[in-house]
Amino acid sequence: MPLDVIVGAQWGDEGKGRITDLLAADSEIVARFSGGDNAGHTVSVGDQIFKLHIIPSGIIHPHTTCVLGSGMVLNPAKLISELDQLSAVGIGVGPERIKISGAAHIISPAHIALDGAEEKLRGEAKLGTTKRGIGPAYADKSARRGIRAAAMLDPDQLGQFIMDQVERLGNVLIKLYNIEPPDPKAARDAYVQYAERLLPYISNTGALIAEALEKDVVVLAEGAQGTLLDLDHGTYPFVTSSHPIAPGALLGLGVGATHLRRVIGVAKAFQTRVGEGPFPTELHDEIGDYLRGTGKNPWDEYGTTTGRPRRCGWLDGVLLRYAARVNGLTEITITKLDILSGLNQIYFANSYMRDGMEFENLPEEPVQLGSFTPGYEGLSGWENDLSEIRAWDQLPQEAQHYIERIQEFTKIKVKVISVGAERSQVIRR
Ligand code: GDP
Ligand code: IMO
Ligand code: MG
Repeated sequence: MPLDVIVGAQWGDEGKGRITDLLAADSEIVARFSGGDNAGHTVSVGDQIFKLHIIPSGIIHPHTTCVLGSGMVLNPAKLISELDQLSAVGIGVGPERIKISGAAHIISPAHIALDGAEEKLRGEAKLGTTKRGIGPAYADKSARRGIRAAAMLDPDQLGQFIMDQVERLGNVLIKLYNIEPPDPKAARDAYVQYAERLLPYISNTGALIAEALEKDVVVLAEGAQGTLLDLDHGTYPFVTSSHPIAPGALLGLGVGATHLRRVIGVAKAFQTRVGEGPFPTELHDEIGDYLRGTGKNPWDEYGTTTGRPRRCGWLDGVLLRYAARVNGLTEITITKLDILSGLNQIYFANSYMRDGMEFENLPEEPVQLGSFTPGYEGLSGWENDLSEIRAWDQLPQEAQHYIERIQEFTKIKVKVISVGAERSQVIRR
């Protein structure tokens, strides 16, 4: 019966991977449903750090089956290198554990070249994409000329499809962007090899999940990106090209809506964004730098996928309410509460202002987010290091008050709080 979905409640990098790892302990199937290797999910177990881009973070628990759903776009070269990296540290990554939906789409070298070319042409108006070919791959999917993962079942035919596509997009790259295109024949040869390696993984994942749900097995959907990066409901055009919100899990796995049980929104205790686009609570001062960290700690705010410094700011309650609405959140998980230790005052955006009007809820789609000024309330901070705390009543009162304020404002219960990157550094309520 139950499908539980983990979604990013902000602009991505909320800690979805580590929360997926936590909940995967009680799930049999863990599935990614959108995006591709634009995602970077870090999971710390003991002194091992796993950086996953395509394979669900549930893979670290040996009992799970991991699904790459139909809503994803896959770079086969990256997928193979991720399989090899996991295998090298003793994680089982055979086709009995990993199932790729035949309806997922394939990213080609031409998509990657186009992503870069389009960003270059946008100049100052660039989106700040990860340049992984995500947008162009979804564009081909929507235009009904994409290449599905099922094509890998016949490697020679896949090679032909790739060659044709690279030739077609090569013309665009030369004529429109004046860029040297990838070599179609080299792409074909490489993709024939990728297909030979990956074809045992292609599976009817929709049926697999349906069967599991019928048997009352818990299926956990691991979101990538975040609510405000959703193609329809995010800060368009500064969004990704898929649907990271909870309904995207139904679409991207082929599950009926009645199966949805928990919708877990993961939010950081502050706000971050990587790439361009509006960010009302962004801080350009030393507090922003404090939240970001220097880059010395593995959890400091530098992108897992691209290494870019993330923009940082105060937690935006108005956007968290919006995330609760568009996802239908049943609970919230707050990560990185430990990072706020040492601040005298913490600010929480509880309203937006524009043209003399004040709003507690976003009055429109978040496209024009840049036109609002956030209204803040100040809360007392705390000095204590939180990293060893495992129980709610051991948290400093100020930290408890902050969490309770988030809960009161969003009207959604905060059930899990994380106070460090390592698997065990969580407080459950
Ligand atoms: P995701 O994309 O949502 O999975 O998040 P990322 O993995 O890109 O970014 C979250 C970063 O914060 C990772 O480096 C995590 O290891 C780290 N992290 C997660 N939760 C906590 C926490 O509670 N405290 C600290 N200090 N780091 C955390
Ligand atoms: P995880 O799953 C943060 C952002 C990019 C850019 C925009 C479009 O780790 O949270 P794209 O390459 O998707 O066309 O880029 O979306 N973006 C992310 N930001 N975390 C992510 O994934 C992201 N995936 C895409 O920075 O602003
Ligand atoms: Mg990430």
